[in-house]
Amino acid sequence: MKEYSQYLEKVKGFLADNDAKLIAHYYVDESIQRIAEDTGGIVSDSLEMARFGNKQKESKLIVAGVKFMGETAKILNPDKKIFVLDSEATCSLDESCNHDEFLMFCKKYPDREVVVYANTSAEVKAIADWVVTSSIAVSVIEYLTSQGKKIIWAPDKYLGQYIVDRTGADMLLWDGACIVHEEYKALELKKLISKYDCDVLVHPESPRSVINLADVVGSTTKLIEASIVSNKKYIVVATESGIIYQMKKRSPDKIFLEAPTAGEGASCESCGKCPWMKLNKLDNLLEIFDNKQNEIHLSNDVIKKAQKSIQRMVNFKNKEFNNKKVS
Ligand code: 13P
Ligand code: SF4
Repeated sequence: MKEYSQYLEKVKGFLADNDAKLIAHYYVDESIQRIAEDTGGIVSDSLEMARFGNKQKESKLIVAGVKFMGETAKILNPDKKIFVLDSEATCSLDESCNHDEFLMFCKKYPDREVVVYANTSAEVKAIADWVVTSSIAVSVIEYLTSQGKKIIWAPDKYLGQYIVDRTGADMLLWDGACIVHEEYKALELKKLISKYDCDVLVHPESPRSVINLADVVGSTTKLIEASIVSNKKYIVVATESGIIYQMKKRSPDKIFLEAPTAGEGASCESCGKCPWMKLNKLDNLLEIFDNKQNEIHLSNDVIKKAQKSIQRMVNFKNKEFNNKKVS
């Protein structure tokens, strides 16, 4: 404990000296989440990371997460310097959606509104009319459908299918997937559920067969909220296991079970752990400004174009994210 408080003081001093703030996603290691919380930063879902960064007075933001989160922070704060803890930390969804191929696809359907998931590159966001995260995807598509719009959706085919199932929207889906959530297995999950009186919490990047077994489907923040209000002792979690630290902290008496990723025909690459989120290491924090690779650079043109689609997301109001704050 003494060691932790000494380290914490060192990081606080480092952040103050460098006029920097640490912003972390729920999926990074517990040690990083703790430091972000204890230094006045934030640990949150990807939407709130974007919103929080936008409100800070510090001239530098350090993003513990993956590349698209750092890029979103840069797009919303072009005058700040944005750093990522590990420059290799990407996302299979981002990687699946190449800018040139996506542009060609969009050009084939000029009558459609282009809506992309936040888990995309800045260049892909610059093509889009809207950027959304999982916490507002359904509400935004509902809104666009009510305006008579037809949609191009990229890159997550599972989240896209979930939105179509929920809203009946006319959507063309890009063929991307998250290598973590794609691995959850419905058959094995059913076996687990049959053994416990539990609630099942599922992130919508999971296959439809897994979503169909859920008590609650939603963004990382929504799943944490659901774990707090659940009256079950056992909670099965089908999303990246880093989030369980936040759930346990709020409900120390509950037992959290990771949804199964193995089973018949399994070729699990991730087993409930995002390999890129796990590249984030606290050891890199105090040297972060020494490595040029850690700073996010984007062209002014991309920033300007992507700002429009991201700002729509940040400004979009609905009841689902007006009470997003987890306490
Ligand atoms: P959230 O927007 O729910 O935080 O999810 C981000 C993500 O990468 C999920 O895999
Ligand atoms: Fe991307 Fe999946 Fe990792 Fe989230 S968990 S950052 S969607 S690879």
